Amino acid sequence: MKLFETNIPFPVLDFFRLKLNRTTSLSTANKKMVEACGIKNFFDCEDDLTSLKNIICSSDNFVKESDRTEYGDFQTNINLAIKISDYLNQNSCNPEIIIEPTCGKGNFIIACLNTFKQIEKILGVEIHKPYIWDTKFNILQYFIINPNLKKPEIEIKHFNVFDFDFRNISRDISNKEILIVGNPPWVTNSKLSVLNSSNIPIKSNIKNHNGIDAITGKGNFDIGEYITLKLIDTFHNSKGYFAFLLKNSVIKNIVYDQKQRNCRISDLKKLIIDSKKEFDVSVDASLFICKLNETPEFVCNEFDFYNADKSINQFGWIEYKFVSNIKAYKNCKDIDGCSPFEWRQGIKHDCSSIMELEKMNEYFVNGLYEKVNLEEGLVYGVLKSSDLKRAVIYQTRKYTIITQKKIGQDTSYIKNEYPKTFDYLYKNKTQFSLRKSSIYNNKPDYSIFGIGNYSFALYKIAISGMYKNYSFNLILPQKGKPIMLDDTCYFLGFDNLEYAVYTLILLNSETSQRFLQSITFAHAKRTFTKEILMRLDLFNLALQIPNKEIEEALNKLNKENNLNVKLHKWQDYINLIQPNIHKQLTLLEQIAIYKKDKIQTGKRRHKILKY
Ligand SMILES: C[S@@+](CC[C@H](N)C(=O)[O-])C[C@H]1O[C@@H](n2cnc3c(N)ncnc32)[C@H](O)[C@@H]1O
Repeated sequence: MKLFETNIPFPVLDFFRLKLNRTTSLSTANKKMVEACGIKNFFDCEDDLTSLKNIICSSDNFVKESDRTEYGDFQTNINLAIKISDYLNQNSCNPEIIIEPTCGKGNFIIACLNTFKQIEKILGVEIHKPYIWDTKFNILQYFIINPNLKKPEIEIKHFNVFDFDFRNISRDISNKEILIVGNPPWVTNSKLSVLNSSNIPIKSNIKNHNGIDAITGKGNFDIGEYITLKLIDTFHNSKGYFAFLLKNSVIKNIVYDQKQRNCRISDLKKLIIDSKKEFDVSVDASLFICKLNETPEFVCNEFDFYNADKSINQFGWIEYKFVSNIKAYKNCKDIDGCSPFEWRQGIKHDCSSIMELEKMNEYFVNGLYEKVNLEEGLVYGVLKSSDLKRAVIYQTRKYTIITQKKIGQDTSYIKNEYPKTFDYLYKNKTQFSLRKSSIYNNKPDYSIFGIGNYSFALYKIAISGMYKNYSFNLILPQKGKPIMLDDTCYFLGFDNLEYAVYTLILLNSETSQRFLQSITFAHAKRTFTKEILMRLDLFNLALQIPNKEIEEALNKLNKENNLNVKLHKWQDYINLIQPNIHKQLTLLEQIAIYKKDKIQTGKRRHKILKY
């Protein structure tokens, strides 16, 4: 039984016992299988046939399933696969050729056989050999139960999809209607590298990110995304449909990349499924469908898969902007422009056991629960995403060691100026050398990233990149020292409290929140990124908010947080954040221009003010 590592359904076992028990030649056996179910080369070799014959003489064919995490293995249940093919059928998809590039146990193939009546050819590809048998047995069982149905030509290939050349097929199909259907693996390349898996494409930087972007998060992608892009690229000039179950984050990326790829796909749809119910996993996923060989489109309509009559949202490209809710965005698009200040990401050190400290009486305690004796000089309070709970923060639970003032700075000064800190770092040097990311290669000892003058700004406005929380926080100095943020957070730095507070009020206004909600995606790993935050044009936002509202928000903030910030620097602030062409105008004139809608957002911005 170990040979096929799969369970053979009883009707299939009976079929084999009846039809193949006395067949000795491979070609006769394969001929019989074509007649029975349409599958070409059912047995790849004599060994397969002999093993099968041994198996069918045995009574026990129960096999336990192995751990298949690295293959992102969530088999689609047959009911869902049938509902999907029915939906496609009702929406004028009637394919002659079916391609299932990671066919698993073959449920989509069975569902297609069941639904579509014009199929001439089916190609299934799968990396896991036992699933190849599962698929073959399932197809055979389907035709044992339905012997009179037309049998298409079927090929189930044991292949790594990354090595499979689909281009030959795209050339051969001429004018036939095609359906590319399936559920590619739900796993990211970084998860695979943790598993030391080789199940990744050779060219893993699929988006051609360069330098630091490829090394840090941006190079991370889903295997399913790679397979989707590869197949759309190959088949977008063929007539037919594409339908894949994908993580919502992957669907967002596909629509995002469509602007640049300009593939001939249209009628993009995302039909949200209940993954808990269908797969027993908590992953936001949907069925992504598009029509092939059409004038390229850049917008995707969202539906509830179980009640798909009415679109519930539309996201994608509107002119040159990518947004998560087109309807909501249209009401606040005026503030989509360019931030006058540069948003920054917090400190990155990848060495939390040594660099993350808590204070206990006189001492610091590190992540290894060791008591640490350090000079205070390089120690700063630090906030993580989970600490950004209150509107105004001036105290931290954690501390960190800031070894550099800017990226790449020589760290040899620490030995003379902060000998205790140096001893501690030196003692733990191996922990730093264990850091996996190549950004630390050939950098001074104990290097950190996300550091610059801006890190030392006394006042900061911060937000967590990870949480779906749209409120911004004001960070005040702690015992006269600036508080740092970790790399899960983004911030603006100010050296004057008033400007920081005015910015906080603008960012926490309803208009700003509505705008941010219309451009961010709830399922993104990071709701906020530097790119998203840089889109918020504070000047246009300020023009939209009546002075009275600013005053009220300021009074509330002062009262609740014991602050005493006045509005006397407001006009200076507006002058600072306004684009150059408005510099000579009064505030009233600027508002008048704004109201006449003469401002062309994005085209008039002065240089971004760097801290
Ligand atoms: C999410 S499951 C879905 C299976 C099937 N499409 C379905 O809907 O039931 C993903 C499948 O991809 C297969 N797979 C993973 N990596 C693969 C690769 N590199 N080449 C071909 N198949 C692969 C897995 O073995 C698994 O069967």
